Amino acid sequence: MEKVTVPNIIEKKKRNEKIVMITAYDAATANVIDETGIDIILVGDSLGNVIQGLNNTLPVTMDEMVYHTKIVSRGVRNAHLCSDMPFMSYQASREDAIRNAGRFVKGGAESVKIEINENYIEAIYAIQKAGIPVMGHIGLCPQSVLLMGGYKVQGRNVREAKRLIELAKAVEHAGAYSIVLESIPWKLAKKITESIEIPTIGIGAGPHCDGQVLVINDLVGLSPEPIPKFVKRYANLREIMAKSIKEFRDEVRDGIFPSINHSYN
Ligand code: KIV
Repeated sequence: MEKVTVPNIIEKKKRNEKIVMITAYDAATANVIDETGIDIILVGDSLGNVIQGLNNTLPVTMDEMVYHTKIVSRGVRNAHLCSDMPFMSYQASREDAIRNAGRFVKGGAESVKIEINENYIEAIYAIQKAGIPVMGHIGLCPQSVLLMGGYKVQGRNVREAKRLIELAKAVEHAGAYSIVLESIPWKLAKKITESIEIPTIGIGAGPHCDGQVLVINDLVGLSPEPIPKFVKRYANLREIMAKSIKEFRDEVRDGIFPSINHSYN
């Protein structure tokens, strides 16, 4: 397997090949994902929810994201490694955006992702001008949860749908190499995908995007209920972990583990 690069990812859309992206937050999990040959590993700021037990991603800091980028990068050989820029790491100024994106690259990332609205288009332009590829993220942007008043499907009315189509074009125009479409109606996601040259990567955006992303803990069934409608669990790791932990607990309590076989002479 060869290293996945930004040009490879853009090419995939032209060849009509689906792009697969999965989040990771540590080296061991990243290594398992990498060895399956998926295209992109995302160090998502979803680590706020998944790893840190927060209700939203707003408190996640640059230092935390860079730390997780560094440890994930040690488990990755071939997948492209993208890191999420956390809340307030790019909103205040172009300088912030460039410097913080640079910290990710020094930590091992090969591109950064930013949640975009009309006010931050120029952050994409500035970061990619500095030589750092940018993935945009539109639709439901979890960093705007306070403004949205919760996690709601976006682009349901005509005005909002038109706005998202224009926003996607602006993101492409500013130099992004791909765009995450989160929680929007599938017909709108299809229209956006057909309106731009760069790949769209969907999460809760239906089957017509150029690729799909899932949070690893959701995919393997580690996340507690309730899970969003768009998540498909491919395993129930929560159940498997609980079962093995209970067996260990019982064997220790009953004097079965450790046996002489697990002991040194
Ligand atoms: O933070 C994250 O994990 C994400 C993906 C769900 C796209 O932004």
